[in-house]
Amino acid sequence: MKILLFVVASGVVWAAPDEFLGKIRPILKENCAGCHNPANPRNRIDFLKSESPTDVETRRTLWRDVATQLRNRTMPPGVAKISEADRMLVANWIDDRLRTTGCGTGDYAGFVASRRLNRREWKNTIRDLFGLDVVAPDLFPADEAGGAGFDTNGETLYVPPMMLERYMEAATHVLDRIVVTPPFNRLVLSHEMSPVTVAPTGIKPSRFLNPGETLTTSFSVFAEGSYSLRVSVERPKLTPFTMKVLVDGVAAGSVSYARDSGGGATARAVTATLARGAHTVTVENGSERIEFYSLTVDQRP
Ligand code: HEC
Repeated sequence: MKILLFVVASGVVWAAPDEFLGKIRPILKENCAGCHNPANPRNRIDFLKSESPTDVETRRTLWRDVATQLRNRTMPPGVAKISEADRMLVANWIDDRLRTTGCGTGDYAGFVASRRLNRREWKNTIRDLFGLDVVAPDLFPADEAGGAGFDTNGETLYVPPMMLERYMEAATHVLDRIVVTPPFNRLVLSHEMSPVTVAPTGIKPSRFLNPGETLTTSFSVFAEGSYSLRVSVERPKLTPFTMKVLVDGVAAGSVSYARDSGGGATARAVTATLARGAHTVTVENGSERIEFYSLTVDQRP
């Protein structure tokens, strides 16, 4: 027991003052100087210019990066001959040194990782900004506390791709609740459909379509949902006809008009589910020459 105490005690005495010059720097010199030569003025990553632990403390950002590169095994690059023990010894030494001197360096104690808000902060921020109580646990997984037990630790509050998707979803969810848009409703007259023509001058706001002819219109909707696409035409006096309705180039249904000797305007609709964003609707005429009035797009409740 006495011997053990002695060994430990003497080890500490031997290690403390010159560990940097005696051990840490030589390991770095051997493994890094080939590429990070401190004498080369073109070498920006000049951590080997540090000749003492005090130099390490005053160039904190650079040295923290050195520790990170070692831990991440990104330096030295490729198949490195540095041993695991040396790698961890150096990385731990740097981290310890930066930690124990962190409070003594004045106002700027080094780089602070910019981080996302944690779940609690995000919820409170949304509440403060918009007066909206969103149930954050439904939207985000619990935050990692990391080794230190704080849920505000920048190093654990990174943003993996999955998390970013959840943030986007959450933002959409918030926007849906705070930006209230009136139900979408648009009437597109016959001459406004592409290819556009001059406005009809007669009493009827119609245009004639030959068999197979198509008319298209584009618009944006703000909310995903069910929409009715209503096609208004002149009733066929003799031959019934059918037209196709396409949404974004894909068939959404067809509308058929029965014979009616009285004539007059009539409308038939198809229903389509539209995602938020831009869409085109195309009306494709069937086998008859017909008289087309308008297309109406209505958001269904
Ligand atoms: C084979 C050459 C080579 C060796 C050996 C090497 N490095 Fe590097 N290192 C590079 C190159 C190249 C860069 C990129 C330089 C730049 O961006 O200007 C780099 C960049 C770095 C950076 C900055 C990384 C960043 O993007 O923030 C650090 C820190 C670093 N090296 C540390 C080390 C340490 C510590 C060692 C030894 C354990 C080491 N390197 C050994 C070639 C090497």
